[in-house]
Amino acid sequence: MSPPAIPNGAIATGAELFELLRDDLAAIEREFGRDTVSGVPAITEIGEYLRAGGGKRIRPALLLLSAKLFNYEGRGAVKLGAVVEIIHTATLVHDDIIDEAKTRRGRPAANTQWGNAKCVLAGDWLYMQAFKVAVQERNFRVLDTLIELTQQMVEGELLQMEKLGQLISLNEHFDLIYRKTACLFSVCMRLGAILGGATADQEDQLAGYGRDLGMAFQIVDDVLDLTASERVLGKPVASDLREGKVTMAVIHALEHCAPEEREKIATIVEQRAFNGVTHREILDILTRYGSLDWANTRAVHYAQSARNKICTFPDSHIKRALLWAPEFVVVREK
Ligand code: IPE
Ligand code: IPE
Ligand code: MG
Ligand code: MG
Repeated sequence: MSPPAIPNGAIATGAELFELLRDDLAAIEREFGRDTVSGVPAITEIGEYLRAGGGKRIRPALLLLSAKLFNYEGRGAVKLGAVVEIIHTATLVHDDIIDEAKTRRGRPAANTQWGNAKCVLAGDWLYMQAFKVAVQERNFRVLDTLIELTQQMVEGELLQMEKLGQLISLNEHFDLIYRKTACLFSVCMRLGAILGGATADQEDQLAGYGRDLGMAFQIVDDVLDLTASERVLGKPVASDLREGKVTMAVIHALEHCAPEEREKIATIVEQRAFNGVTHREILDILTRYGSLDWANTRAVHYAQSARNKICTFPDSHIKRALLWAPEFVVVREK
């Protein structure tokens, strides 16, 4: 199912965006590779496995665009681009251990290859390495921002854990997805703005753009968890319900469905298993009440809100790329 189109249509294309950032993204890959070498082979191996697994690299791309909006030309954007991707990688390693995920980016998750214990430690090492690289900027605002971010993300995962198996409210859900995902998107934009010497207002506008884009991103991730195939997504599907996580479309359905349907959803979430209820039945309920469309529409609204946050910047090819990114986020299939 495709979400409603964003008004104004596409302003740039993915190919154009990639072309624009190609050299810098390649430099970030090299930086990531250099940054994750340790004297302890297991760490280097895990780091390299994670880097080579690919990923969309959307966070470093946002940081680069944000810095380029101010014509920043220093080395810091590549360094901090690697930093945000390493932090993202560390959260994924820990997240897959917590979620007991078997696949990630279309291959066995690191925890299935090295075991939980080594992966916890590799994740810790990656966090610290990211900070070590960030310190090279000699900028306390950069460090403050990254420390605050890491705490928000860890708090988000912990809060989510405490809410597992519960039918949480929409507001509780928004708080969780801000912490676990939107906060990092926001920080990527803010760091680019800090490097570029933005005014406080500009910095806040770009951070707001990142926040809204991140909210859209996680809402879509949660819808894809319900609707996509593992082959396309490269990670397990229907896993949120199985993990006892109630996401936007499900929250909407719970508010609108019949008591016996509510019972079915509640049973899966409480038992953390599809005991006697199929994924198909849940999808039928979500479709019957328009819950998937509703969630996608919320993502589209966040995407549009992101675009609105940067409307006062003068026209440029970088701004056009930033106006296009929300479209990519809402129509993506993985
Ligand atoms: C996955 O992020 C974690 C979420 C916040 C949903 P991505 O979908 O950006 O993962 P990769 O890096 O492209 O694999
Ligand atoms: C992950 O949320 C957010 C992180 C900070 C890692 P999810 O649990 O939905 O991410 P996926 O679906 O496993 O990538
Ligand atoms: Mg997960
Ligand atoms: Mg997910």
